[in-house]
Amino acid sequence: MCGIVAYIGKEQAFPIILKGLKRLEYRGYDSAGIAVLNDDTNLNNYKRQGKVSELENFAADHDTTGTIGIGHTRWATHGLPNNVNAHPHVSSDGEMALIHNGIIENYDSLKEELISRGYEFKSETDTEVLIHLIDDIKKKENVKTAEAVRIALNSVIGAYAIVVVSKDNPNQLIAARKSSPLVVGIGKQGDFYLASDATPIIEYTNEVVYMEDEEIAIVDRNEGLRIFSIQNKEKTPYIQKLEMQLEAIEKGGYEHFMLKEIHEQPRSIQDCFRGRLNLDEGWVGLGGIKDYEKQLTKAKRIIMVACGTSWHAALVGEYLFEDLTRIPVEVEYASEFRYRNPIINEDDIVIAISQSGETADTLAALDLAKSKGATILGICNVVGSSISRVTDAGSYTHAGPEIGVASTKAFTAQVTVLTLMALTIARKKGTIIESEFRKIITELDLIPNKVAKILEKADQLEEIAAAYKDASNALYLGRGNSFPVALEGALKLKEISYIHAEGYPAAEMKHGPIALIDEEMPVFVIATQGPSYEKVVSNIQEVKARKGKIIAVITEGDEQVKEMADHCIEIPDTDENLTPLLTTIPLQLISYYVAVMRGANVDQPRNLAKSVTVE
Ligand code: F6R
Repeated sequence: MCGIVAYIGKEQAFPIILKGLKRLEYRGYDSAGIAVLNDDTNLNNYKRQGKVSELENFAADHDTTGTIGIGHTRWATHGLPNNVNAHPHVSSDGEMALIHNGIIENYDSLKEELISRGYEFKSETDTEVLIHLIDDIKKKENVKTAEAVRIALNSVIGAYAIVVVSKDNPNQLIAARKSSPLVVGIGKQGDFYLASDATPIIEYTNEVVYMEDEEIAIVDRNEGLRIFSIQNKEKTPYIQKLEMQLEAIEKGGYEHFMLKEIHEQPRSIQDCFRGRLNLDEGWVGLGGIKDYEKQLTKAKRIIMVACGTSWHAALVGEYLFEDLTRIPVEVEYASEFRYRNPIINEDDIVIAISQSGETADTLAALDLAKSKGATILGICNVVGSSISRVTDAGSYTHAGPEIGVASTKAFTAQVTVLTLMALTIARKKGTIIESEFRKIITELDLIPNKVAKILEKADQLEEIAAAYKDASNALYLGRGNSFPVALEGALKLKEISYIHAEGYPAAEMKHGPIALIDEEMPVFVIATQGPSYEKVVSNIQEVKARKGKIIAVITEGDEQVKEMADHCIEIPDTDENLTPLLTTIPLQLISYYVAVMRGANVDQPRNLAKSVTVE
């Protein structure tokens, strides 16, 4: 949610920042801007509504020279997406510029105070208060920019990742973070890169420092990187090595990141269980939660908190955990959980699931659970992300960077980790018999190949998409662990194609949604073989009787549903607990093709952002 990039070094800053913003565009894409300080210490600030490419075109005829600069791609929170509200924001005297990701909650009172002191506001953003506040303190207290930033942040309530550039020190960038991510890349020749995540940095260096909350970084051409707390205590930067490869964040010949990521799933699922599953020796294990296994086996209750697609993965997790471990699981929307005075006991285990590891509501839900004494665990994709750092322990999904805004491979990786976790606990707890355990892990090992087999059906799925691309509504039905898959299928379709879609437990259809069914309504039904197969068949008949169009995801060789459905997508048979890993794949691809056929921007759907760092 908003991407920030900054650079200081020997190279020209503008092209580096521009490229970085393109890499971060998935975080927000309603406006973009870059401010560069040139050798004559002119602060040239270019901002454009729309995508980074608009900014690129606009800036082409202007002076973009300079070896220090800051850039921003915005997802609007306060104020419309337009040129004025775009970042960077510049101080009234034109001496300093600032970029910000996050929300300043007390901006109203700060703004009033600054207006009373003579400051004029140009934009409707909460960010503009920051630059005026820093400017005001700098002048009032007669201090340097870094100190003014520090003092200003002590009076700010909210979330921020900021970078400031100032004409009076062309050798320095000042950055700070609280509840919004910020990474400093340490280049090979004394160059420094700052960004919301590592994707703009990886092609230059693999040495990074993930900033902690309430830290300020002074990045100086001559003196290097220094980190202070906002109480002004110097800290030693902890340098980490990135393991990400550049290819992982490029499209690699696919038309869209989403398509690439859907096709990566055989590999990403495999990567997820690599080293965590051993068929010969017959074990599964997650190193990250090893120390908590005993506690997990004794848990009276597990609460899973997440948002969006990750919440759907949590629902699949609920089925897995309850079936395999017999531990009661509650799945909560993080945004609801945090505000409804939930009952949290000290012996509860709260598991947060998040691709980005930065979702503000999920982080806040964890904070709450921690404050009540619960053990908090995380399942995250982004290494070094905030959630992975605040949790007591956790497991990474290892799906690799997910750039398409609509989550695909992260979902299947989350479900894979949840499966491994449930199996680990079940075995330790003795709630699974050996033969069943062996059967599931053998099947899990086969999942990547089975996913690859489904992906070979891309042509058929494209044809189905063509048949329903003009629909105004769609319904997705499933029972048991196929219900969350139905929710996820509906979310994928609506978020990228803008077709209204709803997911329902198949039997619930009779309690309302059935009224919507007519010959115009595509109904996607997950009807694989399993305990509720016959029941789902009855639901299909109910839809048929109202002339709804049935697109059924079925187990290979199922002739019964074939006779009823308008379209059938056959998937390989697998263990009941693992079906979501397969049934979700064709639904992702159909959504993708529908969105492409409707001319929608698949990787950057309107109004969305990849990492929702505001509540
Ligand atoms: C949908 C999607 C979102 C995210 C949600 C949570 O395709 O991507 O619904 O799942 O914003 O994000 P994370 O998993 O990063 O916490």
